Amino acid sequence: MTTIRVKSLKHRYEIKIGSGLLERSGEFFKALDFKGKVLIVTQRAVASRFLSRLTDGLAQEGYPCEVLYVPDGEKAKSLESLAKVYDQLIRRDFERRDVVAALGGGVVGDLAGFAASTYLRGLAFVNFGTTLLAQVDSSIGGKTAVNHRHGKNLVGTFYPPRLVVSDIGTLATLPKRELCASLAEVVKYGMIRDRQLFKTLERQSAKILQRDEELLQELVVRSASIKAEVVSRDEFEIKGERMILNYGHTFGHAFEKAAGYEKLAHGEAVSIGMVCAARLAVSLKILEPSVEKRQTQVLQALGLPVKLSGGAYRIPAILEAMMRDKKKRGGKLRFILPEKIGCVTVLENIPVQALKPVLKEAGAV
Ligand SMILES: NC(=O)c1ccc[n+]([C@@H]2O[C@H](COP(=O)([O-])OP(=O)(O)OC[C@H]3O[C@@H](n4cnc5c(N)ncnc54)[C@H](O)[C@@H]3O)[C@@H](O)[C@H]2O)c1
Ligand SMILES: [Zn+2]
Repeated sequence: MTTIRVKSLKHRYEIKIGSGLLERSGEFFKALDFKGKVLIVTQRAVASRFLSRLTDGLAQEGYPCEVLYVPDGEKAKSLESLAKVYDQLIRRDFERRDVVAALGGGVVGDLAGFAASTYLRGLAFVNFGTTLLAQVDSSIGGKTAVNHRHGKNLVGTFYPPRLVVSDIGTLATLPKRELCASLAEVVKYGMIRDRQLFKTLERQSAKILQRDEELLQELVVRSASIKAEVVSRDEFEIKGERMILNYGHTFGHAFEKAAGYEKLAHGEAVSIGMVCAARLAVSLKILEPSVEKRQTQVLQALGLPVKLSGGAYRIPAILEAMMRDKKKRGGKLRFILPEKIGCVTVLENIPVQALKPVLKEAGAV
């Protein structure tokens, strides 16, 4: 088991990464001196595989558990589901000393974390992430949210968990498309901070896709360490450092919007977004073309798309989505661009004329 420490203004917390950790939950809770009962927020598909391991672990140290099931998919991050979490907490007399735990991917984590942060002005929150995305990204950094009919993640808080437990064994049952999409975020960490991680991805792509546990653990440890380090220095996204985590996302978000969220998984959009960012960097002469090629090759080897397909992506619609995003983010369109593997820079005021050829090359019309 590897332990990573994260700093937050509220408290420090640990991320525990390894195999067979769900059954050790009671031991971890005891070490944190938790005294109350636990509400586990999860989904049926996740619970059927892992819930008993978690509840057995908690029972070993005498923690009583309640379980709340929310629907599968993004629709679980709704105000309706949130109300159901509050209902259950009230019905079962949850108090300040009790704990809310999420067992599942980013959807369940964001929802349960938001509920924990607001009920009685904050209960302890523990995140048992069971998707690669949760383990390398969403469970770290304290962002919680639900969606509103006017937009994704519109209502949320910054609320650090008390503990993150990433049991690598759970990744064995992830659908292949989910696994590949999340690997785009791992390539992102390599490109922004970790040359060694990037090389591991290049050399071991086949074994990674076969879900070699030792390798997956290495990817999660390295990725989580980078995210932990970045958010520890810029918890509330004020200093700008947290911005580098958005490498590939300025383009990626616009592709997701233009596609309608269902067609393109987030990680797939980020993959094509990173290809675009690298091409833009080459056209601005801050990146060697050979590096752009290496990035494209590693993305392909990991089963990720590197081009928009279907011809339905229109350049004006993508540019418009970027401009709307820019308004929301304080009026500046920023691009995180690679200079070499493991190192990125932030550029603003890039003329639209420089973006058009990049989008065209990515398959937009
Ligand atoms: N808080 C943050 O900082 C942050 C960062 C990135 C993304 N997010 C959010 O995360 C969400 C996406 O998370 P996700 O990609 O984990 O999706 P998800 O939570 O929807 O999980 C994907 C699917 O896999 C199933 N599943 C989960 N674990 C499984 C396992 N081990 N085996 C088999 N099936 C399993 C789930 O039931 C679900 O159907 C989005 O809502 C996004 O906004 C949050
Ligand atoms: Zn992302």
